[in-house]
Amino acid sequence: MSDGKDSFIPVNDGPSGPGQIRLTKTTKITTLSGAGLSAESGIPTFRGTDGMWHNEELMKIATPHGFLANPQRSWEFYNERRGNMAKCDPNPAHFALAAMESAGYDIVNVTQNIDGLLAVAGCKEILELHGSVWSIKCSNPACSSKPYENRDVPIVDIPLKCDVCGAVERPNVVFFEEMLDPSIVAKADVRTKETDVFLIIGTSGIVYPAAGFAQIAKAFGAYVIELNLEPTPLSMISDETITGPCGETLPKLLSTLTGGEVRL
Ligand code: APR
Repeated sequence: MSDGKDSFIPVNDGPSGPGQIRLTKTTKITTLSGAGLSAESGIPTFRGTDGMWHNEELMKIATPHGFLANPQRSWEFYNERRGNMAKCDPNPAHFALAAMESAGYDIVNVTQNIDGLLAVAGCKEILELHGSVWSIKCSNPACSSKPYENRDVPIVDIPLKCDVCGAVERPNVVFFEEMLDPSIVAKADVRTKETDVFLIIGTSGIVYPAAGFAQIAKAFGAYVIELNLEPTPLSMISDETITGPCGETLPKLLSTLTGGEVRL
């Protein structure tokens, strides 16, 4: 990676815009997104005023112990989330990221979201740190079965049972107290260390290791821009913080930083 500053053209005679930089096709861009990226699509966040985790019972369900103690109740919860997510479409923030990729920019989206909306919007380079609600896996770690996609809404015969070992199947998402998939973490780590520009989009920045990627990017010389409705612990390491709904701020930012090439 270059020294982190010469891989994009400082904007001195271009539009002032929010960014001090211009993205070129050789700039490595990485995004870290959270629930705020999908909020304008209608998917509730976790810690906002009507956040999901204010319901203690739901937090208990989203743990390995909670799932195995009551797979039926857990599947009812995930069936409801799948049903809500199935009704939601990508918003302009998702489409702006997809437009960057289709315009030939080198962008990788590291996301905490499990809703799959980045892929629906057309993004290909996605690392789903916390898994996907549309993927199912066996709850028996010793089972040889592989995760598979299931888009049924709702899944009727819950709890699903594994064809190979008969154990209950579960959503292929990362529960509280669980480790992330080491191969995905490793890919995000390599990318973060070589990235030139790191966009933090709609995350409270308090859950690790996800939030740690912003710190790694900064430590390795990236230019960091945070887009959120309010300050977070990651604001202090950001070179720029852009306040507002990312469905509005992200398309504008990317249009400015690409000199108008990517415009939604
Ligand atoms: N535009 C930009 N930011 C927004 C918007 C929006 N329209 N709406 C909400 N936000 C911001 C909030 O200000 C908050 O900082 O998005 C963030 C959402 O924070 P959380 O609800 O904590 O969600 P997230 O950061 O994704 O949580 C991380 O915690 O429980 C785990 O697995 C879960 O992946 C999740 C992780």
